[in-house]
Amino acid sequence: MEDYALKAVEQLTTRPAEPYDTFTLTPITPVLGAEITGLDLSQELTPQQENELTHAFRAYHVLVFRDQDLTPEEHKRFAGVFGALHPVALAPEGSDPHILDIKATKESKQVAGNGWHSDGTADAEPSLGSMLYLTTIPEGGSGGDTLFANMHLALDLLSPALRGFLETLTAVHDGALPWTAAGQTPPPEYDVPRTEHPVVVRHPENGRPLLFVNAPYTSHIPQLSRAESDALLEMLYAHIARTPLLHCRVRWQERTLVFWDNRSVQHHAVWDYYPHTREGRRVAIDGTALHA
Ligand code: SIN
Repeated sequence: MEDYALKAVEQLTTRPAEPYDTFTLTPITPVLGAEITGLDLSQELTPQQENELTHAFRAYHVLVFRDQDLTPEEHKRFAGVFGALHPVALAPEGSDPHILDIKATKESKQVAGNGWHSDGTADAEPSLGSMLYLTTIPEGGSGGDTLFANMHLALDLLSPALRGFLETLTAVHDGALPWTAAGQTPPPEYDVPRTEHPVVVRHPENGRPLLFVNAPYTSHIPQLSRAESDALLEMLYAHIARTPLLHCRVRWQERTLVFWDNRSVQHHAVWDYYPHTREGRRVAIDGTALHA
């Protein structure tokens, strides 16, 4: 590994363990994710619990909570601790406007999130994070894991020369892209979000730079020719997908809630359990505009 990459990894692996008083935190890997025990999310949290969770979220980016009995209202209340709830686009008539049902069955031909991406990056104020609570996991108890990749470290592992170039660029994120990729057009009632963000942004809360492009939503880099833009984006996506050092993998149990940061990480929901059913509820939290 190059010296700059070793240094980036070392910064994460040698960080001092944080003293959390209100829960126990166990890292998933040295570079990403943590399991939190000792909290009942169906209860209102104390200010100290909220502060410590916010701190852990900024440091570990993916927080996993096991054995939680949560109603949809309790799920939303917990998400609301971190920001305003983001409305579900094209929510079905009569459904909760802030809860997205995540469901795959033997009738499914595709599932949500089966590829590296972040939620809501085409929005002018991209999502702070998402909270997914699974109520049904695939029969047999394995399958349906979610992978996460650390976008701060993805940037840090690139050479200073490439990183310097990326810092001069922006990228267009287009909410219509997932529709056109599936051979469809967005319905007329969908106010399609489309935003140009810097390719390297500074995280609004932890202050660390990160790589902010993702395959389903990023259409192109306007400063480059289409061929150059496609080649550069493909190279970055391959770097994200093929560098296991960036990744952690969450194995679900029923009644697990996972809270991830849509700026600091990308995620990939693995569909390796067909024809079994996997089901849950996702709440997304509003973020703020992103700057270089
Ligand atoms: C998503 O992409 O938000 C869904 C993640 C998952 O089902 O694990």
